[in-house]
Amino acid sequence: MQIIKTAEALLTALAQRKASVGLVPTMGALHQGHLSLIKRAISENTTVVVSIYINPTQFDRKEDLTKYPRTLASDLVLLESLSKDLIIYTPSDETLYPQGIVSKNYDFGSLATHMEGASRPGHFNGVATVVEALFTRVKPHKAYFGEKDFQQLQIINALNLQLNMGIEIIGCPIERTAEGLALSSRNTVLSEEQKKKAAQIYQTLCLLIDTIDTWSVNQMEHFFKTKIEALAGFKVDYFAVAAVTDLVPVKTLEPDLNYRLFAAVFVGNIRLIDTLELVRK
Ligand code: PAF
Repeated sequence: MQIIKTAEALLTALAQRKASVGLVPTMGALHQGHLSLIKRAISENTTVVVSIYINPTQFDRKEDLTKYPRTLASDLVLLESLSKDLIIYTPSDETLYPQGIVSKNYDFGSLATHMEGASRPGHFNGVATVVEALFTRVKPHKAYFGEKDFQQLQIINALNLQLNMGIEIIGCPIERTAEGLALSSRNTVLSEEQKKKAAQIYQTLCLLIDTIDTWSVNQMEHFFKTKIEALAGFKVDYFAVAAVTDLVPVKTLEPDLNYRLFAAVFVGNIRLIDTLELVRK
């Protein structure tokens, strides 16, 4: 028996007893990164919904949408091996976009302006539109997103606040190969040789952590570009250092703020992104 006196404690007790729904939104082509989000969602909720929907409005390049891996049958086998209790939500375009496939316009300020926002016009409006559509349909208590798309994660946090949805947004650590390449659905279209080389993106970001007190951001950027563009077929789209709160790239670091390194790199036609917390060792 629980005897509760305060309204806060009552709410907490009720929340603990209520069935909790966790949502893991994905675009399929599932890998260990997705599976780690789903495992965490299973451990924290009574019901877990995994959505699989390749969202057309978030692709700024048509070619990228056409090439995006579509692996529903093998995704379902993977999910079944994880748990037989999952709810897999595979909505049609008409379900998520009853008014036609167009993005809404949001204002996320500086969070959406730089890095991915600058390189992929319209991308975050597309992501926010589909995530809002999923949130309103699934009505989850918790929703899980990978930190690889750190800018996306912060935008979803802002969306949740703007729309007053009250969902607990949970950012989960990046899963990597043994060499350090961040797991991504796009990796499936890289050759083994390209994957090996692409691990240098993370390895180079790690080297930069040691330079935090001695190098300027410009020196870091120069080092990163030189190292990565020495690899045949690799082109750096951007390298940036930004505070996690506003995601505005900086040239000098303030002592009291938390920063991350952000990078986007083309490997041939495939664009990879990575990010790493900039912490003093
Ligand atoms: O990160 C992704 O896979 C997508 O951007 C998301 C959140 C599922 C929205 O389509």
